[in-house]
Amino acid sequence: MTAPTQTPVWRRACEGHELLDSAAIEVVVEGAVLAIFREQQTLYALDAMCAHQGGPIAKGAVHNGCVTCPWHGWQYELATGKQTIHNQKLLETYPVKEEAGAIWVQI
Ligand code: FES
Repeated sequence: MTAPTQTPVWRRACEGHELLDSAAIEVVVEGAVLAIFREQQTLYALDAMCAHQGGPIAKGAVHNGCVTCPWHGWQYELATGKQTIHNQKLLETYPVKEEAGAIWVQI
C-alpha cells in the first residue's frame, strides 16, 4: 500500500501590481521564504536565500534568465534553481501563476 499523496495547493503570495516587470519580491508563504520574479512577462518562484551563505536572491540582478546573488555572485537559473557554475540544482523552484489580480505559488 502506498501513502496517499497530498494535492499541492495554490497559495496567495502577493498582489499582482506589487511585482512589476523586470522586478522581484521576497514573500513568506506557508513559512517558506520565496523570491518571485517577473521577467519578460514570465513569473518564476524559487527559494529566497542563496545556497552559499543565505544572500537575498530577490535583490540580485537578472540577466539572460539567471539571477546573480548580490553578496558573492553565485548565479542561478530562474527556471530551474540550478547554480550555473556546477549546473547543480541548489534552490527549489515552485509553480507560480497570476490570477484574479494576485500572484499564487504552489507549495
Ligand atoms: S551568499 Fe550568495 S553568493 Fe554568497
